[in-house]
Amino acid sequence: MNAFAIPTATALSLPHSIFKSPRLEVRKGAKGKFRVFAVFGGGVDKKNLWGALFDVEDPRSKVPQYKGKFLDACQALEVARYDIQYCDWRARQDVLTIMLLHEKVVEVLNPLARDYKSIGTMKKELAELQEELSQAHRQVHISEARVSATLDKLAYMEELVNDRLLQDRSVTEVDQTSPPPSTSTQSVDVGKRRIPRKNLDVSGPVQPYPPRLKNFWYPVAFSTDLNDDTMIPIECFEEPWVIFRGKDGKPGCVQNTCAHRACPLHLGSVNEGRIHCPYHGWEYTTDGKCEKMPSTRLLSVRIKSLPCFEQEGMIWIWPGNDPPAATIPSLLPPSGFEVHAQIVMELPVEHGLLLDNLLDLAHAPFTHTSTFAKGWSVPSLVKFLTPSSGLQGYWDPYPIDMEFRPPCMVLSTIGISKPGKLEGQNTKQCATHLHQLHVCLPSSKQKTRLLYRMSLDFAPVLKHIPFMHHLWRHFAQQVLNEDLRLVLGQQERMINGANVWNAPVSYDKLGVRYRLWRDALERGVKQLPFQQIERNEED
Ligand code: FES
Ligand SMILES: [Fe+2]
Repeated sequence: MNAFAIPTATALSLPHSIFKSPRLEVRKGAKGKFRVFAVFGGGVDKKNLWGALFDVEDPRSKVPQYKGKFLDACQALEVARYDIQYCDWRARQDVLTIMLLHEKVVEVLNPLARDYKSIGTMKKELAELQEELSQAHRQVHISEARVSATLDKLAYMEELVNDRLLQDRSVTEVDQTSPPPSTSTQSVDVGKRRIPRKNLDVSGPVQPYPPRLKNFWYPVAFSTDLNDDTMIPIECFEEPWVIFRGKDGKPGCVQNTCAHRACPLHLGSVNEGRIHCPYHGWEYTTDGKCEKMPSTRLLSVRIKSLPCFEQEGMIWIWPGNDPPAATIPSLLPPSGFEVHAQIVMELPVEHGLLLDNLLDLAHAPFTHTSTFAKGWSVPSLVKFLTPSSGLQGYWDPYPIDMEFRPPCMVLSTIGISKPGKLEGQNTKQCATHLHQLHVCLPSSKQKTRLLYRMSLDFAPVLKHIPFMHHLWRHFAQQVLNEDLRLVLGQQERMINGANVWNAPVSYDKLGVRYRLWRDALERGVKQLPFQQIERNEED
């Protein structure tokens, strides 16, 4: 009985003391049957004690009238609340039944009754009562299961409604109700605890890239890395491509596989705007047409090419099957900034995991203890403040603005007041800033081509210091290495089925929004979430 009483009392918010009262103590007998040892009575005013427990109105007359209709989250929540009221009432009725049966047992066992009842009659009555009691106990267990299931449903509905409310909030109302993570003593039992956005499942095995993700302009290289005679081999969405400049100096992107015998073209050379296959010398233009086939009659052959343009110092391609969007977005730093470093790295992690990492600042004082966050204190609360429909905002208490720019870019501006002391000011209050662009190109399976551009709005002289570029690169690599060992570990677990977004908390907001955007894209949702701001700005 107690095994039942405690969880049920918890579920129904009833005081445990009522269920644990010595006046109602039911224990399992030696053979698993229920035996009654004591019941209430003996001068206790049971009406006052128990009356409130069972004096609950039958809620069945108040069932919400939504039968046969599609419900919105609030209506569904109302139905779930009704369910829990009903289960609560039902459970009380079950307990009442048991208690009445107890009273009957007492009556039968009453020594006075023995005077006028034969032993045989008493035995029969007791056996009947015992049967009724065990039926009542079964009923209580069913009620317990129903209460538990209904509470789960209620919690889920409340999450849905809260999520909706969260999305409706403005930037000034962010997370007022979130408990401070570092001071909270709430334990997270990920197996049982209801967590926000529990539908966010990012677990392995890693799936192929969804075709819709290809229908974007992707920056794939920096212009300065592409001379007239150089080739840049890249992998994009698990296909090998090579970028080179045509005779007119414009970049082109063709498949990095010769039409003849599939030799990688980037092993060859570029001459007069054509890429030469190193095997038998076939030559291709930037639109993929084969213009020379030495030692044989020229056949009409073409290899695949992608729309390719150069804008603001970067080479862009359109890998999708849809017609390319009319405009290529701008990724320039704000005015007043000068580019100081442009770095490309091939990283052995899936691009979404890298984006998750870049969109998270709360990890900095724990992860980047040898680089930029050395000596940072751990704030009692980290928040990312953002308009409800946006993918950009700023970190509190850090002077850092951040934006996720679909499909795979992260832009951030960091206010620099004193090295190592970032707290206490917002970005605008800082006199000097560092601007970063991270492009995480989906490369091949579990690989990302990262384009990193760093700009400063101070110390332009740094640009002219010899070897400065090497220093920036060294520093960027050190920071990334601090992340990579962790992200690689996540990836390994993800491949084995772990959900890397199992228990998001309030400071994970930007990463969660990225995942919701990507989920919607993968599911083929027409109106992608969180893009209202950008559209309005374009309007
Ligand atoms: S494989 Fe390229 S020319 Fe033969
Ligand atoms: Fe990091």
